[in-house]
Amino acid sequence: MQQKYKIPQIAVMAAALFLAAPIHAQNAPIKVGLMLPATGTFANLGTMIENGFKMYVAEQGGKLGGREIQYFKVDDESDPSKATDNVNKLIKRDQVDVLVGTVHSGVALTMAKVAKENNTLLIVANAGADAITGPMCGKNIFRSSFSNWQPAYAMGKVAADRGHKKVVTITWNYAAGTESVKGFTEGFEAGGGKVSQNLNLPFPNVEFQALLTQIASQKPDAVYAFFAGGGAVKFVKDYAAAGLNKTIPLYGAGFLTDGTLEAQGDSAQGMFTTLHYADNLNIPRDNQFRLNFAKTYKVNADVYAVQGYDAAQMLAAGLKASGGDIKNLDKVSAGIARAEIDSPRGKFKLSASHNPVQDIYLRQVKGNNNEIRGIAVKALADPARGCRM
Ligand code: BEZ
Repeated sequence: MQQKYKIPQIAVMAAALFLAAPIHAQNAPIKVGLMLPATGTFANLGTMIENGFKMYVAEQGGKLGGREIQYFKVDDESDPSKATDNVNKLIKRDQVDVLVGTVHSGVALTMAKVAKENNTLLIVANAGADAITGPMCGKNIFRSSFSNWQPAYAMGKVAADRGHKKVVTITWNYAAGTESVKGFTEGFEAGGGKVSQNLNLPFPNVEFQALLTQIASQKPDAVYAFFAGGGAVKFVKDYAAAGLNKTIPLYGAGFLTDGTLEAQGDSAQGMFTTLHYADNLNIPRDNQFRLNFAKTYKVNADVYAVQGYDAAQMLAAGLKASGGDIKNLDKVSAGIARAEIDSPRGKFKLSASHNPVQDIYLRQVKGNNNEIRGIAVKALADPARGCRM
């Protein structure tokens, strides 16, 4: 009699333990690994991405898909040689559920490789490396930002439309710089222009004088530049200090003047750039976003803040589709892939390669704003060359 009673009791306890494990996992916080630069020329960009991400989570009451969010952080220093170690700190040591980052294309290429090898969800919140949504594309790899090709190609078209025939390009010699120049060249030469020379210097050097002297002696119709963060501030100031802005218009992918205008001051006034964001879109979603961002962080939002905010929105869409179960990567990925993101830049969906299909705005610097002057290319999708999903 006693024996008969004991067996079901043990069975009940075992069943309770078995059931308790998944319930506990379901209630545990989601571990978000933020791999961003906190030092170096892109440090401020990293802060804006982090702040944008956290602001969206705070707006949702601190939860996405009904789950608390726990952050783990690594300063990647925008150093590709440390990228494997850094991403493994998040994946292996901290056991994060999702990686969010980074700014530098070279670092992001390693993140994508390691994320694929470990079947970890990755949302790239800035780096434009074309390969991430090209040959390296994958089911768990997403981007909330842009491909290097997108704003550059649009600027090439604009420069050709403005009647320029001969352009010199200048950039840092790494993936983002070379791909940006390539995208610009494609758009510009399709419109009848010719890139006469490509100038470059190693990342993150800012000794521009010798290259500016070459530009002055070449006298092109215009210059196209890719720089960002602290390097962009220095380049635009040096270009103006050399007097080149008086005779040779300086164009760029919009990173050249985004988040940099207070430091660039007069030297940037009047410049035209192309990007998937502008400071005065004047749509209700963006107005509300900018107001909340300025109140929360005491600085104006920029494109990097938008990309961080939208990375959080993408994660939220995935978690909604999986009922909060981050371990169900098939459902999370499918949810992100089909979501329409209500971004401050304007609503967008992802292409089949998981890169935003988005309007690229033509902007002009006025005061501390990149003011919209029109849409350079509507609903521009990256060509995703080499992506086999
Ligand atoms: C990049 O490395 O992809 C990048 C860095 C800063 C701004 C834009 C792109």
